[in-house]
Amino acid sequence: MPNPSDDADLQQPWTAGLQAQWQRDGYAVLPGFKTGAECAQACAQAQALVDAFDPAAGASRFSTRDRRLVADAALIASADQVHCFFEEEALDEAGRLQVPKSRSVNKIGHALHELDPVFRRFSHGPALAALAAALGLAEPQVWQSQLIFKQPHIGGEVGWHQDASFFVTTPHSVTTFWFALEDATLDNGCLWVEPGGHRGPRGVLRERFVCQAGRLRMETLDATPWPDAAHARPLPVAAGTLVVFHGLLPHYSAPNRSARSRLAYTLHATDGRAAYSPLNWLQPSAALPVRGFD
Ligand code: FE2
Repeated sequence: MPNPSDDADLQQPWTAGLQAQWQRDGYAVLPGFKTGAECAQACAQAQALVDAFDPAAGASRFSTRDRRLVADAALIASADQVHCFFEEEALDEAGRLQVPKSRSVNKIGHALHELDPVFRRFSHGPALAALAAALGLAEPQVWQSQLIFKQPHIGGEVGWHQDASFFVTTPHSVTTFWFALEDATLDNGCLWVEPGGHRGPRGVLRERFVCQAGRLRMETLDATPWPDAAHARPLPVAAGTLVVFHGLLPHYSAPNRSARSRLAYTLHATDGRAAYSPLNWLQPSAALPVRGFD
């Protein structure tokens, strides 16, 4: 296993060393990008959103006969909303929770960065705008925000993927901003990446997530295999750390087998100079114009 302490010497601000790692490895780790107070406020707001959310109200809008259709419709509808998504087994056919609500949320998305006052502040400002510019996003467009819960004991694995599958642009431009709101460890499901997997022959987009006529599907584009365990590097990081990574970088997160939660917040931004695919599931909304980090 590669040594996770490789990143221990990385510090803000954006340095030549970070720039070199960004280009070589396709990711960079910025400890302390957010303060403890900012993380605590974000965690409290996440809890408040969960407490206020009524799962039955959301589920009742859809027929339960076709669960796949229900899931597709809920995802598409969440593009310009703040919606809680539950673990698959948490709800019964009528949308009633089978387990305590606070322990059954999988994620909240996808417009927290615009609609929620706490996360709007968290997602904008000069530090993020300067970082986006350093990463080459000349005209950043922030498409979505997600609170990703990795619940104690039951938080599942998210398998190898590339975030560019969900935000296809020509040329590729999507960049992920992954904030640890709580410590992310080997035990509670930290990120794993394939260093350098965004470039060269392995830096090819393997899949794309397509939306057509209200249906969502994953299309295979390239048969290049996902990394094996020997080429995966874990990124255990402390709360407040920002991990930025290239949209083509293969990454996954392990299950949470621990008793501690692992709450993360992500933003995905593309470059407005690149052509944004009309087949991407998240499309421009007249009600919520896409904008940058300012
Ligand atoms: Fe991802």
